[in-house]
Amino acid sequence: MERDTSLQRGLIQKRIDNHHITWRHVKGVPLTKELFERIRNNEKVKEYIRNADRYLEAMGYTEHGFRHAGIVSQNAYRILTELKYPHDDAILAWIAGYLHDIGNMLGRTNHNRMSAILAKDILEEMGLEIKNILRIMMAIVSHEEEEGVIVPDPVGAALLIADKSDVHRSRVRNPSHLKEDIHDRVNFSATSSELIIENNVRPRLIKLMVTIDTRLSQVIEYFEIFLTRMSASRRAASILESDFHLYINNTRMA
Ligand SMILES: [Fe+2]
Ligand SMILES: [Fe+2]
Repeated sequence: MERDTSLQRGLIQKRIDNHHITWRHVKGVPLTKELFERIRNNEKVKEYIRNADRYLEAMGYTEHGFRHAGIVSQNAYRILTELKYPHDDAILAWIAGYLHDIGNMLGRTNHNRMSAILAKDILEEMGLEIKNILRIMMAIVSHEEEEGVIVPDPVGAALLIADKSDVHRSRVRNPSHLKEDIHDRVNFSATSSELIIENNVRPRLIKLMVTIDTRLSQVIEYFEIFLTRMSASRRAASILESDFHLYINNTRMA
């Protein structure tokens, strides 16, 4: 008898829990800055980012850890905020930016798809509305320029530009490899990189200002690596009804 009652209680609780999950799923948690604090502090998210970076370190790739996730998410948020998109869109871009590379822990190839699937589980657990989860997933899938497809959504466009513009010497793990590795050399030569958004000109402008130490790498090397990234950034900017300009050492290059 005692057992039955506790079993029944368990079943009722489960029904309440399921109802709660379904309800949250339909309504969704509000998209606030508090939400991204919850995401940043989520243990699963921390482990995914840590291990994605470990995997890429083993491959000899540049830094893709908390620093990269932080910079990309902040810049994606800033792009949409400064271009006066709705605040909800900017929050979704922040979330997509923070989670876009977690799939690297399962391999570099198709990491954009893996990141999207892993993000889906986390965001469902946190109670986001399905339509917002899908926007984040599709933004994450679009961030790889090789994909050649950018879903026409400001969230994905902002994420792509923020991701491709993160070039900086602090991403190089081992400066002693500069001679052999062009990616390391170009990143290490970039002593600063900054996105400037101009909303008061027509067309609106997103400018990437990079300072390169030409003693370490030539501008041509930057182009060799970043040409496809720059053209993807230009296409993404057009979704945001903006032009994308690249400046290297204060000279407009593209
Ligand atoms: Fe990526
Ligand atoms: Fe990235």
